[in-house]
Order: sequence, then structure tokens, then C-alpha cells
Amino acid sequence: MNAPIFIGLMSGTSLDSIDAVAVRFEPTFELIASHSEPIPAAIHAATLALFNPGDNEIERVGRLDLALAELFATAVENLIKQHSLKRSNIAAIGSHGQTIRHRPNAHFTLQIGDPNLIAERTGITTVADFRRRDMAAGGQGAPLVPAFHSALFRQPEQNRILVNIGGMSNLTILDADLDKPVLGYDTGPGNVLMDSWIMQHQQKSYDRDGQWAATGTVIPQLLQTMLALPYFSETPPKSTGREQFNHHWIEQQVAALETQPLPKDVQATLLELTARSIADAINNHQLNNVQVFLCGGGSYNQQLKARLATLLAPNYLGTTTDLNLNPDWVEAAAFAWLAYRTLNHQSGNEPGVTGAAGYRPLGAIYWGE
Ligand SMILES: Nc1ncnc2c1ncn2[C@@H]1O[C@H](COP(=O)(O)OP(=O)(O)O)[C@@H](O)[C@H]1O
Ligand SMILES: [Mg+2]
Repeated sequence: MNAPIFIGLMSGTSLDSIDAVAVRFEPTFELIASHSEPIPAAIHAATLALFNPGDNEIERVGRLDLALAELFATAVENLIKQHSLKRSNIAAIGSHGQTIRHRPNAHFTLQIGDPNLIAERTGITTVADFRRRDMAAGGQGAPLVPAFHSALFRQPEQNRILVNIGGMSNLTILDADLDKPVLGYDTGPGNVLMDSWIMQHQQKSYDRDGQWAATGTVIPQLLQTMLALPYFSETPPKSTGREQFNHHWIEQQVAALETQPLPKDVQATLLELTARSIADAINNHQLNNVQVFLCGGGSYNQQLKARLATLLAPNYLGTTTDLNLNPDWVEAAAFAWLAYRTLNHQSGNEPGVTGAAGYRPLGAIYWGE
């Protein structure tokens, strides 16, 4: 008999696509299928518009909540169809939802994409709203992937650090000493600043391999003022989002310069800021002989990766491909795992990461057929 399949659904701050995976956790972890569902332009624009305060938000959130849920259900149906998965083998969907506001200091975070509708359309039990229980227990509600990283990648011979470079970047520290707690937090921007700058200046959704950034020169003054942002020196637990790192913030910093810079030099500086904020965070922990593994879309940015390799030397820098999991699917797999945990009455958070008062079962269950 086959062990149950869990589906993970992830839509991150980048809004590049909806990631869907089908995985098994027993007897060991196995990635069975994956699918990337494109986000239609209208949904993309409506979501982007809700990242920041604006008029008539309740009405717009209500409509988008349903439109995203339909899209999530479509992603699941396409995953099932393309890989001929047997529906009766699927135990549950873990749906992260789309974050449209994350304000940990005000103790609230909002992910939308109505799980009632996902369960209704697919007939599959859906677990969702993972972050708010951790917040209710005093945590940041984020990042949640470290517990999964720990379950999958921790081992006693080697200090390991996982860095997920999505729209934002978060890291997980897996000490070789298994008695040490799992640590992790959001380091700051991932791709989000580079994406928004190249969109404005070249109408491209991202800077492939950091090629445009590589043609520019880092502006030291801009880099210094950006690195002076208090978020980077705050002690964890901490988490962030587009509320902090967005296009407006770049423009403010650029406007404060004495002479107006070339756009490509700003791009080079944003790439350097991204690399520095990640590497500084890692180097702060002063772990010897650590292996660093990247995942998320930013792991494909060769220029960024080269800078990180330099800043982290002599430590090994690779991607989760080295650990037999494609960097594109780690986060979605994590939400499948969180659903698996919840259905088994197990906790999903890492209190040492989020700052919650303790381990908690995460999410709510919307039963399928
Ligand atoms: N070849 C590449 N070069 C540079 N950046 C890339 C490349 N491939 C993907 N990305 C970046 O990865 C982002 C998507 O990463 P992802 O992990 O899906 O983030 P999120 O979780 O926020 O959706 C894209 O917006 C883009 O910036
Ligand atoms: Mg994505």
C-alpha cells in the first residue's frame, strides 16, 4: 500500500507563479510531482495593489480571496491531471495562501485564497491559515519553513544553513549539535528589490542571472545607507515583507543621493545589498565549517550566487539540489509537510525561530469529501 500523498501550494511575495507539489513523507520524503501555475495579469495586478494600504480594501480582498482560491484549485487540478495522481491517495492540501499584509509588530498577518473553496472545488481536505496560531502564541508567524528544513536536512556531522531566496530571504540554522535549537529568521530582501527596479527601468519581471546588475557598479553611499536600515541589525525573532522592502523605499534612498545614479548602478547595489544582508547574517553566527544551501528562485541568480560564495568563503555554498530537492519546490513541500503535521496532531512551528511561547499545531482543517 502506498503512503498518503500531500499536496503543497505556495504563492510567495514575488508573484512569479503558484507552486504546487505532491509529496510523500513516509517511509521517507519523496517528491512525486510538481507544477507551476501561471498567475493571470488581472490577479497579479489586484494582488500587488493590496500589498499596500488603499481604498475599498474589504471589497477588493473579498473578491481576490475567491479569485486566488479558484486559481489554487486549478493548480491542484493541473498537478493531478499532468501526473495522473490518484485522488484517493491524496490525504490533504497544505495551502499557504497569498500574503497581502504581514505586520508582526502589530501581531497580525493575512493570507488569502479561501480554503473552503479549494476544498469544495477539489474535494480534498485542505489545511490553511498556518501563520496565525503561531502569532496568537506570541510569535512572528514566520518564517515557518525552518521546521521542515530541520526535519529533512538536519544531520549530526555537519553545520548546515538553508537560505530561501524568494521575494524575501529567510535562513535556517541547523547546528550539527542536535541539542541546539533550530534558529532562523528573515534576513531581509530576496529578489523583491531587484525585481521591482528592473521592472521600472526595463519592463522585465526579473534580472536573469543578475546580468543587468553585472553591468553596473555598486554605489558605496547607497549601499551603506541601505545597510543602515534598523531591520538588518535587529536581533531575531524577526520577519519582514513588502511593507518594509518595496519600490518606494528604493526611490527614497536613491533620491537622498547627491547626484542621480545610473539605473544599472542601482541594480548592482540592490544585488550587493541582497548578498550582503544574507552573508552578514550568516557570518554573524560565527559557525565554523558550515555548508550553506540555497533554495527559491534567487538561487538561480548566478551573479548573486557568486557574490554570496565570495562573502561566505571558505564555507561551502551550494543549492538544495545537493540535498536531492530542487530549489523551486522546497517551500511548497514545506506547506505540504505542515498539513501532514497538522493532520497528525503535531506541531509545525519552531519557537526558537518565531518567538512563540511554545510548539503549536498550525492551521485550520477544511474537510474534503
Ligand atoms: N535565472 C534567474 N535569475 C535571476 N533571478 C531569478 C532567476 N530565476 C528566478 N529568479 C527570481 O526568483 C523569483 C521567484 O522566486 P520564488 O522563490 O518563487 O519567490 P516567492 O516565494 O516570493 O514566489 C523571481 O521573481 C526572480 O526574481
Ligand atoms: Mg514564487
